[in-house]
Amino acid sequence: MGETKRQLHLGAFIYGVGHHIAAWRYPLTDSLGLFTFEFYKQFAQTAERGKFDMIFIEDIPALPEQLETAIQYTVPVRAEPLTLLSTLASVTSHIGLAGTVSTTYSEPFHVARKFASLDHLSRGRAAWNAVTTSMEITSQNFGQDHHLDHAIRYERAQEFVEVVTSLWDSWEDGALRIDKATGLFADPDKVNAIRHQGKYFSVQGPLSIPRTPQGRPVLVQAGSSETGQDFAAKTAEVVFTAWQTLEEAQAFYSSLKGRLGKYGRKRDHLKVLPGVLPVIGSTEQEAREKEAYLQELVLPEVGLSMVSRTLRIDLSSYPLDRPVPDLPDATSINGGKSRYQLLVDMARRDKLTIRQLVARVTGARGHKTIHGTPEQIADHLESWFTNGGCDGFNIMPPYLPGGLEEFVDHVIPILQKRGLYRTEYSGTTLRDHLGLEIPGNKFQQERHKQQQAN
Ligand SMILES: Cc1cc2nc3c(=O)[nH]c(=O)nc-3n(C[C@H](O)[C@H](O)[C@H](O)COP(=O)(O)O)c2cc1C
Repeated sequence: MGETKRQLHLGAFIYGVGHHIAAWRYPLTDSLGLFTFEFYKQFAQTAERGKFDMIFIEDIPALPEQLETAIQYTVPVRAEPLTLLSTLASVTSHIGLAGTVSTTYSEPFHVARKFASLDHLSRGRAAWNAVTTSMEITSQNFGQDHHLDHAIRYERAQEFVEVVTSLWDSWEDGALRIDKATGLFADPDKVNAIRHQGKYFSVQGPLSIPRTPQGRPVLVQAGSSETGQDFAAKTAEVVFTAWQTLEEAQAFYSSLKGRLGKYGRKRDHLKVLPGVLPVIGSTEQEAREKEAYLQELVLPEVGLSMVSRTLRIDLSSYPLDRPVPDLPDATSINGGKSRYQLLVDMARRDKLTIRQLVARVTGARGHKTIHGTPEQIADHLESWFTNGGCDGFNIMPPYLPGGLEEFVDHVIPILQKRGLYRTEYSGTTLRDHLGLEIPGNKFQQERHKQQQAN
């Protein structure tokens, strides 16, 4: 029998009413749908119709620094991820449900409990995107006078994830007995306190929820800096990232996969999914016009403010048609390092003026935008996938609901015809879709080791 062909993994990334910064002004966007259950239900069910591995919702528990511009001209409001994903679990049956929670602005017990609940209630479809939060102003919403340093945020994140996974393992497989005849509900020998005493957290455990259908919800990570990559190599099973060129994506892919061995992990234990914003037309010309129209809807001050925020410099005092001023490397940056570096590299590499840089990144916030016919979009995805750039993509529809529907109706069938994508789900859990094994339970493994030693 021949080897099964490697297939793409796809996430459907929810972001406001669409990823393009001007999405809410686009005539085909359901801007009034934001915060209605029907809007998200349609999104999730369309993605499930397209056999996506998962839907994904990002989160920052704060509004941006340039509050006035953000509120006046963009869509900075978001539903809380766990609340949203719980409602979507009830109107879908297979698709994975990935949500973001910050390790800098929450507590491990809460996070372990919420995702374990979602995993049970969705029958094995939960994933946690563990982020360190790049937006410095967030500290002001949590009684802290400053945003922790980048290195400290990652150190805390590492310990945070260790505590969460221990809590998920605190109930061993088979701990639940539910034996009506004897009256035994659970076996106390198989429920473990975790007794964690660390630098940032002190957690006794056990969790108030038994081991979940996936063993543990899937762990996602989305930082791409050196420290972010090490964190991901040690713990993550899916990595979201942003790259402009295939060469950059390949370098990241091999750098990240190359780190896995250090932690005793195999290359396919972690899936790398860069973001892509597809602008689809029935002809290339139509797609180009659509993209140009979306760009026309971006007010100049909006683009400038967004790029200024990422680069941490007020660009409004510089002439728009002069080159982007010299900027330091990311070492001095305390927010998100990789997105900052991506913009600096792009400006340097392509010798961009401020106006050109703003035009390039306002659409997809530094993610790759591709416009074209469904065939051309499929060609692009195939090329990155087969040339060592990724294991799949996080699809970022420019406007909703149409942007996702077009992808599902026109691009997915081409990928399926090429054998690059599933035509049916072969399992029911997110781990099944991603080809990830159920992780061993650390308490069971320790017990097993002890028994062998005795
Ligand atoms: C697809 C994608 C989604 C992300 N979602 C979030 C998010 O929801 N919340 C957040 O604070 N950061 C998010 N990030 C940013 C990273 O998690 C991270 O905070 C940032 O890149 C800084 O880490 P770094 O310095 O290691 O790059 C996302 C990044 C990517 C590529």
